[in-house]
Amino acid sequence: MVRVFDPYCHRCSFKLSYPDCGVQCASSVEEVIQREGPDQIAALMAEPMTASAAGLAPPDEYFPMLREICDRYGILLIADEVITGFGRTGKWFGMEHWDVVPDMITSAKGLTSGYVPMGVVLMRDHVARHFDDSWIPVGSTQTGNPIACAAAVAALEAYEEDELIENAAAMGVVMRDELEKLKQNHDCVSDVRSLGLLGCIELVSDGATREPLSARFGYGDTIEWFKRRVMELGLDVRIMDHFILIGPPLSITAQEIAWGTGVLDKILGEIEGRMKAA
Ligand SMILES: Cc1ncc(COP(=O)(O)O)c(C=O)c1O
Repeated sequence: MVRVFDPYCHRCSFKLSYPDCGVQCASSVEEVIQREGPDQIAALMAEPMTASAAGLAPPDEYFPMLREICDRYGILLIADEVITGFGRTGKWFGMEHWDVVPDMITSAKGLTSGYVPMGVVLMRDHVARHFDDSWIPVGSTQTGNPIACAAAVAALEAYEEDELIENAAAMGVVMRDELEKLKQNHDCVSDVRSLGLLGCIELVSDGATREPLSARFGYGDTIEWFKRRVMELGLDVRIMDHFILIGPPLSITAQEIAWGTGVLDKILGEIEGRMKAA
């Protein structure tokens, strides 16, 4: 497996700025393919918005460019939609934001609304046809589990009947506005990113140098403290390194978003106070 640079505009690996960069993070993938040898590469796999790695929402050109590169070299594009699939970003699948059709999609969490373990691999016809006369000799105890399948069908029905994907799209706009306000109000917030109801806040100790919050003041005194404080105030977000990752229920309301970002506003103020006192 060969890794490529992320579409991380806030800390661009090429030291360029969007949009003058020409989306170098995407075009550089072609160089990697040429160096490795296109015939050595079966597939390119990417998340529409990487959640666990710094919550990165790519520029609009990024995935159309990757699709075009993959097509040119006969390489499959696999979208890892384990987190972004089934409405999280305000569309059924994240790749729909850029009208990109991947060759395969892996997905899980939102498929059953997370209540029952189930994962899926979706594929386009030209990939599926391969299995008309060949098969992968793997099995597992829980494959095709009827309870998991029933939960998935029920979740899909609820997404449609309660118009939850539409709600995620509308509330994604509200959440984005609230995140932007946090950025304006707090020096320790250097960037906010989101796609629908998947959001990320990046924390720094110094807005000018963008030094990660934990680098100067220590992980325990900043990130671990932040985690405890969020829990004390009854909010559930994921805090990893100096990133706050946000993924509220698709049924969330504007009032609930305002409450949640209000809690973050309070804690960000507190952490700035701690930084000044240190
Ligand atoms: C983006 C992403 N891909 C893949 C996985 C692994 O999925 P699973 O746990 O269903 O094997 C995860 C799990 O958290 C994930 O977040």
